[in-house]
Formats: sequence, structure tokens, C-alpha cells
Amino acid sequence: MQIFTQIADIKTALDFLKKENLSIGFVPTMGALHVGHLSLIEKAKTENDIVVCSIFVNPVQFNNKEDFDKYPVQDDVDIELLKKNACDILFIPTVKEMYPEAPNENFSFGQLENVMEGAFRPGHFNGVAIVVKKLFEIIKPDKAYFGEKDFQQLMIILALVKQFNLDIEIVLCAIIREPDGLALSSRNVRLTEHQRAIAPQIYALLKNCVEHSVIASVAEVKEEFILKISAISEFKLDYFEIADENSLQPISSWEDSKSPRAFAAIFMDNVRLIDNMKIFCNFAKS
Ligand code: PAF
Repeated sequence: MQIFTQIADIKTALDFLKKENLSIGFVPTMGALHVGHLSLIEKAKTENDIVVCSIFVNPVQFNNKEDFDKYPVQDDVDIELLKKNACDILFIPTVKEMYPEAPNENFSFGQLENVMEGAFRPGHFNGVAIVVKKLFEIIKPDKAYFGEKDFQQLMIILALVKQFNLDIEIVLCAIIREPDGLALSSRNVRLTEHQRAIAPQIYALLKNCVEHSVIASVAEVKEEFILKISAISEFKLDYFEIADENSLQPISSWEDSKSPRAFAAIFMDNVRLIDNMKIFCNFAKS
């Protein structure tokens, strides 16, 4: 595996590979790699000649300083993991290399950014768009891989690609879960043993929503989820929403959407967990 820290160097190396007509699959990460990231890398390897990963904890996408300060960093472990998996090239720049000057671009994603993560984490998606656009310009991949756990981020990135006519295929990858259902996340390592034992309830309650959507209204499904989460003292609900998965706009009736999805963001102390699940069994679909 080749490792680059400088933009100019990785661009030169990739230009050479592109001249050889080799296809590039790109997996951007913020490090603290887990099996979810490795599954993206594996998928990228089956669809491309070369897999490029990046590790960059992007300061401008954190709206909460404590979340940024406590974001797990384990570069040595990550590098070993990438070497053992299908990563061919790692880009691991410093903040100064990525942002010699504070970035000040302002993106607009309309209704996609005004709800859920966009509403609860002001500036977050602008920061994601800044870094992803810059990484895309550096790597110029044929395909880039993103997990559905950050579903709204995925929609924002699809919009970014469309807005700037980027010639990159975005590959959506299913959420990878622990055997007990907890969605894999770099933040999971910050949970105490006790919190970790309770966290899979988020998955269980999302599943419950899907099951109940067959017989209950949107309002009833939402109320039940919120009540059950509130009954667990370790959880503090940030938001729960049932929204159309394409427009991300909340729905009030199953008839409002052909593809509804449930979205949750929940704090366990200062660790924020997000998860989502497609609701497929409702009357609107039959
Ligand atoms: O999903 C992430 O890990 C980050 O938001 C990303 C896409 C690597 C941008 O920093």
C-alpha cells in the first residue's frame, strides 16, 4: 500500500495510473476504521482496479467542538488494517495540507439540508460538501463508496455530484450492523460497556417501526418510537423522523411517500448515534 500525505504527490501517482487506463474506486473516511469501512473497501475492490482510501478528520464538518476533540484517532491501527485489506493507496493529509486557508465555500442543497442532521447540526453538511468536493477533485475517482448509515449525507453527496456535474458514480452501501443490530460507527468505541449493551435498542425499536407500519399510522409509529426511547433513561432523543427517502421531507401519511424511511439521532451521554431503516411494509406500497 502506498501512503501519501501531500496533494501534489497523490495527484501525480494517480495521473500515472489513469494513463494506464486503471479504474479508481474511492472510500473517503475519517479513520477509526471498522468492519463497515472494510466492507466499502472490499466492494470497491470488486468494482475497480485500484482502491484509494482517505483518512481525514475534517474539522469543518463538526458543529460541536467536544465531538471533534473526542473523535477517535488511531492512525497506526488504521494503516495496519488497510494494509491487510484491499486498499492500494492511502491519502492521509494534515489539516494544513487540505486547508492552507480556512475554507469559506457556501453550498446550497435546498430542502435536503433543512431537516434532520441539517437542522440539528448547523453547518455540518456544508463542511461535508467542502471536504468531499475537494477530495473528489484530488482523487478524481470513477466510483466513490458511502454507507447508508449516514443516509442524509449520501443524498447530499448525490446532489453535490449533480450540481457540479462531477463524473463520479456514487455507490450506496447497506448499513453494516453488529450481531445485536447496533449500526457500526466509529463513535461506538466511546460508549461505556453499559451504554453499549443498551444501544442495540435503537435498532430493535426501528425494526418495531417497520413492523408496526403495516397496521399503524405514521403519527402512531412515531409516537410509539419516541415513547419507548424516552422510557430508557440512558437515551436522549435528538430527533426521530419518518421521511421520504428521496426528498428527505417528513411525511404525515403513508400515502405521502412510495419509499418512506425512519431516521433517528440519539445521545447516550455525549455520544451521538444515528441510524435509519427503510419502511417497506405499508399500505401505500401495495
Ligand atoms: O462519513 C464520513 O466519514 C465523513 O463525513 C466523510 C464522508 C469522510 C467526509 O469527511
